[in-house]
Amino acid sequence: MNVLLIDGHPDLTTSTANAAIVSTYKQQADWCFHHLGTRDVVVAAEQTALLAADIVIIQFPLYWSSFPYVLKKWIDDVFTFNFAFGPNGSKLKDKKLIFSITAGAKATSYASDGFNLMPIADYQRAFEHVFRAAEMIIVDTVITFEMNADSNEGGNKEICLNLANLHAEKVMSLVTSLDK
Ligand SMILES: Cc1cc2nc3c(=O)[nH]c(=O)nc-3n(C[C@H](O)[C@H](O)[C@H](O)COP(=O)(O)O)c2cc1C
Repeated sequence: MNVLLIDGHPDLTTSTANAAIVSTYKQQADWCFHHLGTRDVVVAAEQTALLAADIVIIQFPLYWSSFPYVLKKWIDDVFTFNFAFGPNGSKLKDKKLIFSITAGAKATSYASDGFNLMPIADYQRAFEHVFRAAEMIIVDTVITFEMNADSNEGGNKEICLNLANLHAEKVMSLVTSLDK
């Protein structure tokens, strides 16, 4: 199966969690990696890569309970009429999709009476919209909370790296289970 990894971090050079996760994924020599933070989006190339993929992994840090701007731009540019939706827009139908998300907050903050205002499932329904419109199959959402490496913000780099390692292993075993 062809696996396409979309790295939606705006700048991996400033990242701890996503940089560690993506570097673990790089053990998978046959995966195709697209790093959105480091280059312009060439729509035709992105669409070709999506067409060739059986499994698409959308990797990103949760920013304001949604995508970083680089990932939103990629979606807005690439998921076009008659490609991802519209009368001839079923090109991505039935491709498998995995969300792989890092979050700084505690899971318990995602509640109607918490700092993040709503359950994470409610935000998910919003950011899943485009992929559901494209008739893709959302296989799973792997989300790890409390990924904060910055000690000035109460974080801990070592804990963050351990969580990143567990997170990457989980996503890779999910892919292996689909590849049977
Ligand atoms: C602009 C910005 C917005 C953020 N918004 C959220 C948020 O809404 N919920 C949350 O759990 N974490 C939020 N965070 C924390 C990031 O999710 C966390 O720093 C990131 O997952 C760590 O990954 P990295 O080390 O790869 O950058 C935000 C961080 C930034 C910089």
